Amino acid sequence: MDKLLITGGQRLSGEVKISGAKNAALPILCAGLLTSGTLELHNVPQLRDVNTILKIINETGVTCTRDKDCVFINGQGLNNPVASYELVKTMRASILTLGPLLARCGEAKVSLPGGCAIGARPVDQHIKGLQAMGAEINIDKGYVIAKTKGKKLVGTRICTDMVTVTGTENLMMAACLAEGETIIENAAREPEVIDLANCLISLGAKISGAGTDVIKIQGVEKLASSNYSVMPDRIETGTYLCAAAMTGGEILLSNTITWTLDSVIEKLSEMGCDIVSDVRNQSLRIKSPQKLKSVNLRTAPYPAFPTDMQAQCMALNCIADGVATIKETIFENRFMHAVELMRLGANIAIDGNIATVRGVENLTAAKVMATDLRASASLVIAALKAEGSTTIERIYHLDRGYENIEEKLTGLGAIVKRISD
Ligand code: UD1
Repeated sequence: MDKLLITGGQRLSGEVKISGAKNAALPILCAGLLTSGTLELHNVPQLRDVNTILKIINETGVTCTRDKDCVFINGQGLNNPVASYELVKTMRASILTLGPLLARCGEAKVSLPGGCAIGARPVDQHIKGLQAMGAEINIDKGYVIAKTKGKKLVGTRICTDMVTVTGTENLMMAACLAEGETIIENAAREPEVIDLANCLISLGAKISGAGTDVIKIQGVEKLASSNYSVMPDRIETGTYLCAAAMTGGEILLSNTITWTLDSVIEKLSEMGCDIVSDVRNQSLRIKSPQKLKSVNLRTAPYPAFPTDMQAQCMALNCIADGVATIKETIFENRFMHAVELMRLGANIAIDGNIATVRGVENLTAAKVMATDLRASASLVIAALKAEGSTTIERIYHLDRGYENIEEKLTGLGAIVKRISD
């Protein structure tokens, strides 16, 4: 398993180009399962999670070919509406194949994802929604076995118990080929949901309301072909903003999207960073102070502060002036990074879903272990500041969601080395 060796203390400067969004690319690739035409996608990040979804799609008989950041999907050959445990267990988002496979084939067999490091993360809302659309669903030997009663799913009104991002996406995709109108209430408003809806619309789907909490989908007979570019990754953007802030750096982030990050930019500004967004050039510039100020955070669905930025901002609070309270409201076990940050000298107390972080002067290098994707990012950020050389183990988590992270950080002046076993 690869490790990352980071020598802290370098002030980041220069320019970093942001990649396509993982959390938009995954559902959009699954949208390729809905059409018998072709989908040419651009700005698809080269990540482990993307490779996993491409493997799953290829196993269904749909062909996916990749050339750098471009993926070409030909939906014609779909003959095996199955997503196997071997692939699904490595990535929860594989459940996003369920809605499209069921809608297109009238049947699907998709492994249940199982638990993960940040919480139980059930998929009951995906299943309940599809049942409401007329699917018969059984769980057998760890698989969701789904079948439509008639030839097609049937549009209906669905109100999810909680805001779920992939749940909304799964149901929205399934509804594209259902009979009649589907209304999803309490829908997730995340920008990635809008990006998926825009891609589906480009394929001929009839969707309105994406980006609000009520999405309406009018089912169509079939989808056509399209050419679409995946939105920039707002969480990667936020992570590099934090990396710059941690080191007192000044960097330019290009090829990004500025409006999706308001809540993160607001918090970083409260910490003392000066962030200027250039909407026309799709770039952000951050200039960070010598010493950050602590800031309280509470994660919640978009447009509030994203849970996917909680770990990175906790790292910043570790060396900030003051005491911060961080409340995690989305996932019950998303503080695994805190104990690793403490190995670097952070002062953090956890009580249920609240972390209290008392800023210390600086962190010191140690061996730490990545536990999930964003936790890994927080350890990288902490290591960029810590005195000495920090080894981060199990960075395969990082490779799931950050394209070329060593190259990008090295380009900004960080001292980062990957050590392969
Ligand atoms: C997506 C993102 C992930 C992000 C999360 C929250 C992708 C591929 N992943 O994950 O990076 O951290 O949104 O912004 O886009 N829940 C249920 N039953 C369900 C579905 C969800 O109880 O059927 C609960 C979850 O356990 C969690 C909450 O609802 O507590 C929100 O989860 P959800 O929005 O579904 O997260 P994901 O879509 O898995």
